[in-house]
Amino acid sequence: MVRLAAIGVGNRSGKYLRYLPGHPDSVRLVAIVEPDAVRREACRKLYGLPQEACYADADAFFAEPDRCDAVIIASPDKDHFAQAMQAIDRGYHVLLEKPVAQSYQECEALKREAGQKGVKVGVCYVMRFMPVYRQVKALLDAGAIGRITGVVHQEFVGIDRMLHTYVRGYWNKAVESNPSFLSKCCHDVDALLWMTGLHIEAVQSVGGLEWYRPENAPQGSTDRCVDCPVEQKCAYSAVDMYLRRGVWTDNFPIPEGMTKQEVLEQEMRQGRYGRCAFRCGNDVADRQVVTMKSREGALVSVEMNTFTRREGRKTVFSGTEGEMTVDGWMIEVRDHRGGTLRRYDYRSDAQRPLHANADLDIVGDFIEAVADPTRQPAVTIADALESHRICFLAG
Ligand SMILES: NC(=O)c1ccc[n+]([C@@H]2O[C@H](COP(=O)([O-])OP(=O)(O)OC[C@H]3O[C@@H](n4cnc5c(N)ncnc54)[C@H](O)[C@@H]3O)[C@@H](O)[C@H]2O)c1
Repeated sequence: MVRLAAIGVGNRSGKYLRYLPGHPDSVRLVAIVEPDAVRREACRKLYGLPQEACYADADAFFAEPDRCDAVIIASPDKDHFAQAMQAIDRGYHVLLEKPVAQSYQECEALKREAGQKGVKVGVCYVMRFMPVYRQVKALLDAGAIGRITGVVHQEFVGIDRMLHTYVRGYWNKAVESNPSFLSKCCHDVDALLWMTGLHIEAVQSVGGLEWYRPENAPQGSTDRCVDCPVEQKCAYSAVDMYLRRGVWTDNFPIPEGMTKQEVLEQEMRQGRYGRCAFRCGNDVADRQVVTMKSREGALVSVEMNTFTRREGRKTVFSGTEGEMTVDGWMIEVRDHRGGTLRRYDYRSDAQRPLHANADLDIVGDFIEAVADPTRQPAVTIADALESHRICFLAG
């Protein structure tokens, strides 16, 4: 029985902890750390924890000895390194959200400390657990397109996610979180390296913050969308997004005695998510293309595209014997000689919640690794170093 604690019980932990009810014989939640009182109480009730198992502050949690066997760390990026180091120091195994730290040196320190203490550190690289990408890797490993000569990968961030997370949200300043390419695309880079087995020896990057700046604010617009005279015409309106279309609203904590509608209306008047998208003091890139050359000679490019309603990813792998396109949940492989086309259809996975269950498979894999002295998590901190190195280089 693994005694598990969760540090930061927001969106990601909320998903990971759903693994627990189905596995009462192998893992038990024994503590949570969450500064937000509404979220802390909601999680406490959901998992039937006593008050004394719920901490507002990570230092108070770490100050107590032998509190658990393992922790999930899904707090904001800027807290990952210090909290993971404390966990390692206490001998707790760690399932750590990406990005794992705010510099490459910190990533290396995590790997070093974990090795010295004999602690297992798994990294939440969810793409490695998604059936569609496991199939891609199996095909590439089997030589389906011969030697890989190039990879073109597009990450469609989507306008709503961009606004919620990187313009108005907590990931909008690099110093408080990380550069947006690292935040959003480090698991794309990891997945590409994992699927292809390529080794990157050169990295170039272009991009920056061009659009969500005060000088681009629509004429006559005001600081808050809720009383902006041009809100009706603005594609970036918070009122349209949260109140009319109701998207990205699941993660707003609802205090007792308030309705969701009241919380959203209050947020529009006073909160960070009601601000004009051009006046948020944000500094992370709204576009970026990173190109790489591998030791094997393949050229790889990754585009972070935030100006699209589309979400998800598209990747084209070119090889000496054929080409492969992975568009969302569909894989197509075409041979150069003869032009034979094979399709692998994973579209039914699009309906499966939690990244086609990959969010729960990550936790299952981690819990099994903690319980088994002979194995490591499927994605370790050592595995995650290279994708972080490349993304820190890209800036
Ligand atoms: N693997 C993925 O696919 C994926 C997807 C989205 C986000 N993430 C990463 O997961 C992490 C969490 O993101 P999220 O979307 O759950 O955010 P979130 O804001 O929903 O949750 C984070 C929680 O941490 C709490 N918190 C704040 N400071 C804390 C502290 N010092 N100690 C403990 N808890 C603290 C917040 O109150 C919040 O409840 C981030 O690092 C993010 O980059 C990963």
